Amino acid sequence: MNISVTKNPNPATPPTGNFGFGAIFTPHMFVMDYKDGAWQDPRIVPYGPFSLDPAAKVLHYGQEIFEGMKAYKKGDDGSVHMFRPDRNIRRFNISCGRMRMPEVDPDVFMKGLDLLIDVDRDWVPESPDALYIRPTMISTQPSLGVKASTDYVFYIIIGPVGSYFAGGINPLKLRVEEKYVRSAPGGTGFAKTGGNYAASLLPIDLAQAEGYDNIIWLDARSMKYVEEMGAMNIMFVYEDRIITAPAGDTILDGVTRDSVGVLLGDTGRTWVEEHPAIAEIIADAHSGKLKEVFACGTAAVVTPVGTIHFQGEDHQIADGGEGPITKEMRETLCGIHAGDSEHHPEWIHKVPESGNV
Ligand SMILES: Cc1ncc(COP(=O)(O)O)c(C=O)c1O
Repeated sequence: MNISVTKNPNPATPPTGNFGFGAIFTPHMFVMDYKDGAWQDPRIVPYGPFSLDPAAKVLHYGQEIFEGMKAYKKGDDGSVHMFRPDRNIRRFNISCGRMRMPEVDPDVFMKGLDLLIDVDRDWVPESPDALYIRPTMISTQPSLGVKASTDYVFYIIIGPVGSYFAGGINPLKLRVEEKYVRSAPGGTGFAKTGGNYAASLLPIDLAQAEGYDNIIWLDARSMKYVEEMGAMNIMFVYEDRIITAPAGDTILDGVTRDSVGVLLGDTGRTWVEEHPAIAEIIADAHSGKLKEVFACGTAAVVTPVGTIHFQGEDHQIADGGEGPITKEMRETLCGIHAGDSEHHPEWIHKVPESGNV
């Protein structure tokens, strides 16, 4: 499939300074339409608004999915690479299946990513800042029937984001969510679809109003087992093993989660996917059996959890700071992201220079 390129006649100059998250976008975007049963007209065009019919299904029934990934600049030669984009592409198509949307050919997806990042290569900031990549699909058929849309738009927008650790390593203060649930067996928890996030806004806001950074979701059936966080997976470090919830149909199967699992295995540690019971986690925090807790995801890489609030009380994890395994995992992954590591070169996809895409 040939991807056409229409250059932005008035591109902005790349900004400098503190980028924050998700507020700055580059001058171009990738767009492709699904009509008459096929993907058509893949193109790089100037970044700008879409025109949508007010009856477009996405606006009524939320038939929408997205992904979140990053590209980094390598310090010594300025080349640009993505971290495990194949995993995000695969997860995107898994989300498509659950939300009754048409899959995107992984080769076209990858080619669109490469070409878009290459066109806006000047916008990739120096590491540890990164280029955030947001592939998205929306349903556009103007019809209020509660049925899968016949038409879709797939697009990718990108923009520089600051390092999560710009202000230092700040252990998270989390609250276990004991009233609301994120997902249930048979639901959409494993899909990266907007509705999962819309439903999380109220409980996260309520926790933040009480001084917590984020929440820990429990399983919907028993409210006894830890699932994940607002936009991160969570791991519990014991002397002899590291536990995280299994990637079934209720949690998002994080790329960082999987990468940490592999790195833990590489270093001879035992990584187990089993259901961590919150009551035991809290008891083990008090007895000292629980050594560390960390959150992991594209945004925060690996970040320590210092406090967990459960049943009306704050419970400190170890000394409340960053433990050695959390630090090791964070540093190893950040090194791989920056291109300064010998570990897992197969996780790095170098964005080809113009003319080679
Ligand atoms: C709900 C949720 N869980 C976990 C993650 C972590 O996934 P990843 O490591 O692929 O960023 C994310 C972020 O995408 C998320 O939104």
